[in-house]
Amino acid sequence: MDGNGRWAQLRGLPRIEGHRRGAVSVREIVRAAREVGVRALTLYAFSAQNWLRPPDEVAMLMQLLRDYVIDERPEIMDNDIRLITIGNVDRLPSFVREPLEALKRDSANNRKMTLCLALSYGGRESIVETTRALCDMVKAGVLNSEDIDEERFQAAMQTHGLPQLDLMIRTSGEERLSNFLLWESAYAELYFTETFWPDFNRAEFIRALDSFRGRERRFGRTGEQLRKIG
Ligand code: FPP
Repeated sequence: MDGNGRWAQLRGLPRIEGHRRGAVSVREIVRAAREVGVRALTLYAFSAQNWLRPPDEVAMLMQLLRDYVIDERPEIMDNDIRLITIGNVDRLPSFVREPLEALKRDSANNRKMTLCLALSYGGRESIVETTRALCDMVKAGVLNSEDIDEERFQAAMQTHGLPQLDLMIRTSGEERLSNFLLWESAYAELYFTETFWPDFNRAEFIRALDSFRGRERRFGRTGEQLRKIG
């Protein structure tokens, strides 16, 4: 969800105004995703590296997150959306963690869509953490190292409950992954748009989904093989 700061600066507003408008886009895109039948939507809301931002910006982002979790609770519950998180949520201040954990708990049996918030998240960090957990299991004698394959590794990742990542959207004209879902994006389609996140709306989201639908996903096979399989 990139470009909040530049969106604000272009208008002579403080960066935090961009984040505030970004939170409005979050609401619109979550609603659109639910309506069109997306099974899972993961939002990169706060990276492990974002802690390095100026303290007042971090504080405002935390406040926005808390407001989001509290204000959206009824909509999330009414729409049968399961809220989960990835990342080092323990680092979040308790005024965010408490309403967040409560909503995760209360929405755990919701089934229509999974909304995953990546918070204090880093793709490399998550791979390292998974590796450490598997090493601990080997050390404890409950896992043989020869049994570690891609499936076993994925099962130990925080994203284990999510479907395969199909489409990754990045706004604001940047064309890189910036440590987001590195393992999971192996076969994801990438979609880049110049639009800053606060201007990213339902129509733009549908455009990204249409672009995804038009792509041929070969997973290493040839196009001809795919057409034969049907
Ligand atoms: C990146 O834009 C955006 C963020 C670091 C924060 C994203 C947060 C929100 C959209 C609002 C809160 C989230 C939820 C789920 C309610 P940037 O600030 O790096 O933009 P820039 O590259 O233009 O400076």
